[in-house]
Parts: sequence; structure tokens; C-alpha cells
Amino acid sequence: MRTPLVAGNWKMNGTRASVAELARGLVGGAGSISGAEILLCPSYIFIQEVQSLISESSIGLGAQDLYVAAGGAYTGAISGAMLVDAGCQYVIVGHSERRALMGDSDGVVARKFAAAQEHGLIPILCVGETLDERQSDSTLAVIGRQFSTVVDAVGIESFENAVVAYEPVWAIGTGETATPQQAQEVHAALRAMAATRSAKIAADLRLLYGGSVKAANAADLFSMADIDGGLIGGASLEAREFLAICAAAAA
Ligand code: PGA
Repeated sequence: MRTPLVAGNWKMNGTRASVAELARGLVGGAGSISGAEILLCPSYIFIQEVQSLISESSIGLGAQDLYVAAGGAYTGAISGAMLVDAGCQYVIVGHSERRALMGDSDGVVARKFAAAQEHGLIPILCVGETLDERQSDSTLAVIGRQFSTVVDAVGIESFENAVVAYEPVWAIGTGETATPQQAQEVHAALRAMAATRSAKIAADLRLLYGGSVKAANAADLFSMADIDGGLIGGASLEAREFLAICAAAAA
């Protein structure tokens, strides 16, 4: 039985004031949602503020990235140990914005995944193809490479405590969503890839969809057999919209 997960990826957005208002609004509404796990991934600088605001609620806390080392002379970096100390349970690794803009290669993503688990964090591994890759029919090859690089590095057993998010790059922040059928096709393929290593782990693995999810399309996406929730960017910055997405996952 896979409990749906809806994670808000706030990216590099917010001020102390706006983030506090958003977190308060979410705490106020989350109490009436059962049957889905809700997670917030604020920018590092707001993590402690958000942690104190959600501490009495059922909402979980995650970060958007981590560095591979546990600590030491790495100017500007944040370790998994620091995230755990700040109250995080999850961390996103391999988001396409980091892959494209910050140079996170498949190998670096695998090391970040491993580093997260070394500290007891649950990694949310993002995979996804660009528009060019989809148009040249290489979607499943790209996703297979991104996923198997991590599986080869850490072993399929590690996915007992991990989440995978399929985020087509062409659908992120563009308003263009994969159709439920397009998303389901990739989710089913991902589960099948995992099943070649372990049927049990594949059956229990939560697969999130991300890319322009909003209240208006969430229910259709979440009704698909292999879609177990969402990783939400823009729509997670508005309490009412995000809560409606969470309610769709819980239904
Ligand atoms: P979006 O972003 O919902 O704004 O498309 C999703 C993501 O990048 O995680």
C-alpha cells in the first residue's frame, strides 16, 4: 500500500514574511486532510522558520538539495547532517534545474542520494527528459540512464527508503502538463525498471509526477495506477491551491 505524497518545492522563492504566512495557511488546512502525506521543501534559509511553524502539524519537512560531504571545508555547502539537525526528513536530489544549471551529473546525483541516506534522510530522486529528448523518442532511454546510474551506485535495496519523481523538463514551470496517459506510461516504465531488480521494492516505491501540476489537473494525474502523488513547484506557493492538490491525492 503506497501512501500518496505531495511535496511542495518552493525553489528560490519567498521572504521570511511570505513563507511564514504560507506555512501558517498550510498548517491551518492540512488538519482536515488524511490519507496523503504532505511535505514542504523551502529554501535552506527558511527551513528553521518553517520547521517551528509546522512542528505541531502532520506536515513534513524537506530540503531542495544537499552536498555530498558530511561536513568540513566546503564553502557555501549544506550537508545532510545539517538538514537532519534542522528537522528535515526528506531531500530532493537531481532536480532538473540543478542538473541543467548547477552541473549535477548523474554521478553527482547518485552520490547525493547516497549521502542523504547515510544521514537518514529520504531522497526524492528526480528524473525527466527535455523536449528534444521526448521528440527524438529517447524519453525512456534518458529516464532509464538517470535511474539506473543511481541504482547501480547504491543498490535497489536503498529504494526501500526513497521516492522517485518523474518531472518532464518541458512541463516544469511552463504551464504545459504531461497528460495523465503520458505520465502513466513513464511511471509504469520506471516501476518496471525497478522490478527487474526487485519486484517487492518496485511495488512499494512511491513515484511522484511533477511539472505544472495544479488543482485543476491533479485529480486526473493522481488517478493513474502508478502515480503516487506529486512534486509541486509554482502551485505550492499558494496555500489554497496546494491544499486542493493535497486533497486530490488523499481522495
Ligand atoms: P512546477 O515545478 O510545478 O512549477 O512546474 C515542479 C518542479 O520543478 O518540481
